[in-house]
Amino acid sequence: MIVAVCSLSGAPGVTSLATALAACWPSTPLTVPVLVEADASGGDIASWHGIGLDGDTGLVSLAAASRASAPVPASAEAWAQAGVQDAASAGVPLLRHAVELPGGLRAVPAPADPLEAGRAVDALARSPHLLKSGRATVVDVGRAVPGSAGAALLRHADAAVVLTEPGDLGSAVRLRMCAPVLASLRQEGVRVGLAVAGACPHADSEVSRVASALPVWARIPRDEVGAALVRGEHRAPTRLRDRVAAWRSRYRDPDGLEWMPLVRAAKALAELCDDFSGIGMASGARNAVEVSAA
Ligand SMILES: Nc1ncnc2c1ncn2[C@@H]1O[C@H](COP(=O)(O)OP(=O)(O)O)[C@@H](O)[C@H]1O
Ligand SMILES: [Mg+2]
Repeated sequence: MIVAVCSLSGAPGVTSLATALAACWPSTPLTVPVLVEADASGGDIASWHGIGLDGDTGLVSLAAASRASAPVPASAEAWAQAGVQDAASAGVPLLRHAVELPGGLRAVPAPADPLEAGRAVDALARSPHLLKSGRATVVDVGRAVPGSAGAALLRHADAAVVLTEPGDLGSAVRLRMCAPVLASLRQEGVRVGLAVAGACPHADSEVSRVASALPVWARIPRDEVGAALVRGEHRAPTRLRDRVAAWRSRYRDPDGLEWMPLVRAAKALAELCDDFSGIGMASGARNAVEVSAA
């Protein structure tokens, strides 16, 4: 399943949400969540984590390999049945271009150079075969205004999460302008929903009303500690409320990070998106489009 996360303006926290979403994805032995940073304006993940990309890892190598690849890779189940160890990775050529972030999340970072990144996103939107080889792929599309290379990528997703700050007037106007185009993605089998970032006094129903009836799937709270964790910085909680939440969480679940509001919101959103794959409506609708186009 491909879940794309994008914004329409500003920097509302797309990379942070996409990272947290992939990290919180409900995993199974055959599901290795992968974060693909396909931001045409250049990537942040490699610099956040001090990672150097060689010729075999990252978005540029993924785009080149995807252009050259056969469209139908064998499934992880087929590799498992053939007795291959680490079948989850073997069945996912996408993983060959990934690096491992601290904490274990596999990620395909974009180059920081916007020229290189833009070319790679463009190529990937034209040949998304390898992107589709993942079982659970979260794609950070960055800004995806209509007509951009990022917007073209959204068409290959099963679900698209549009992160927006409708509490800000400029962002609300941009959302109203772009919503009809986003809503039309549903005709191609892409489920589209909103994640509301920042302080927004409007109810979900009001936000939906200005956004061509797109549903609000999540509210993403400000969370300095969670955002720092996602950037690879470990910052101890300073607010009393956070410290109490951390203490309580440790008492119940020593490994839990869910006391962080960003992590908790991302986990709920990941579970919602994972449910879509069970319902299977997105791929069903896309298959119908592909069959009728054939
Ligand atoms: N929920 C959040 N709470 C607090 N800070 C955040 C949150 N999400 C992101 N940030 C911070 O905001 C800045 C921009 O976030 P980023 O994820 O890079 O945005 P984008 O990908 O939309 O440009 C980063 O410094 C990040 O750590
Ligand atoms: Mg970003």
